[in-house]
Amino acid sequence: MSFGLLNGKRGIISGALDEASIAWKVALKAHEEGARFTLTNAPIAMRMGAIKNLAEQCGAEIIPADATEVGELEKLFTQSQEVLGGPIDFVLHSIGMSTNIRKNREYGDLNYEWYLKALDVSALSLHKMLQTAEKLDAIAEGGSVVALSYIAAQRSFPDYTDMAQAKAMLESIARSYGYRYGKKKGVRVNTVSQSPTRTTAGTGISGFDAFFEYANRMSPLGNATAEECADYVVTLFSDLTKKVTMQNLYHDGGFSSVGISAEIVELLEKKG
Ligand SMILES: NC(=O)c1ccc[n+]([C@@H]2O[C@H](COP(=O)([O-])OP(=O)(O)OC[C@H]3O[C@@H](n4cnc5c(N)ncnc54)[C@H](O)[C@@H]3O)[C@@H](O)[C@H]2O)c1
Repeated sequence: MSFGLLNGKRGIISGALDEASIAWKVALKAHEEGARFTLTNAPIAMRMGAIKNLAEQCGAEIIPADATEVGELEKLFTQSQEVLGGPIDFVLHSIGMSTNIRKNREYGDLNYEWYLKALDVSALSLHKMLQTAEKLDAIAEGGSVVALSYIAAQRSFPDYTDMAQAKAMLESIARSYGYRYGKKKGVRVNTVSQSPTRTTAGTGISGFDAFFEYANRMSPLGNATAEECADYVVTLFSDLTKKVTMQNLYHDGGFSSVGISAEIVELLEKKG
C-alpha cells in the first residue's frame, strides 16, 4: 500500500547490489511512495549488472561512484541534481565493506591496511558524502540523510571485528554532521541500527546464521527484515519525521533493550 509519503521528493540511494540488499528494498519502497531518485554504487559493483533491473523498475538513472572518492561524489551530487531537476531531499548511505571480515581475520590478527580501508568505505564515506553535499549546496532545506548501522557499535560481537569501530564512527559522524547541517540548512542526519539481515555484506560475517538466530530469539518482535527496514527508512525521508535528527535509531524488533529472553533461558536450561 502506498501513502504517497515521498511524492515530489528527489533522492540518491547508494548500496543496491542485488535483490537482497537493504538499499534495493529502500529503492522499491521509495519508488512506490512517489520519489524520484538516482541509484549509485562502486563502479566495481556495477559489473554484476543487477542494479540495471532495479533502475528499470524504478525509472532511475545509475551514477557510478566510489564513496571513498570525493571527486566521484561531487559528480554524483551534481549529476543527480541535473537528472532530477533540483536539489536532493534524501540520501541513503547503505555502504559497508571489511576485507578483514571477508578474509576471516580474527580481532587479534587484523591487517591494518584493510582496517583503514574498512573505516574509509564504511564510515568516513558518510562524512565525504555530507561534506561534498554541503559544499555543493546539493541538499534541500529540511532534507534527510540516513545511514545504516549495527549494534556492534555499542556492544561487542566477536566476529564483527573492525566493522564495530566503523559503525561507532559512522554513528558519531551522523551526530556531528547532524548538528552542523541541522543548524545550517535544517538537514536531518540519522543512523538506523538494523537487525542481522541476509544480504551479501551480512552473510559474509562468520557465524552469521548463529547470531541471526540468537537475535531472532532475543527480540520480542523477532528480527526486522530488509523490507521492514525500507518501510522505516522511508518514514525518515518523509515530512512525518521533520524533527528527528542526530539519532541512532534501533530497528531490531526490541533486541537492543533485552537482557535475556525466556527462549534463550529455556534453550540453555535444556543444554545444562
Ligand atoms: N546485513 C546485515 O545484517 C546488516 C545489519 C545492520 C546494518 N547493515 C548495514 O547495511 C548496509 C547495507 O548492507 P547490506 O546488508 O544491504 O549488504 P550489501 O552487500 O547488499 O550492501 C553493501 C553495499 O556497499 C557497497 N559498497 C562497498 N564498497 C563501496 C564503495 N567503495 N563505494 C560505494 N559503495 C560501496 C557494495 O557494492 C554494496 O552494494 C551496510 O552499511 C551494512 O553494514 C547490514
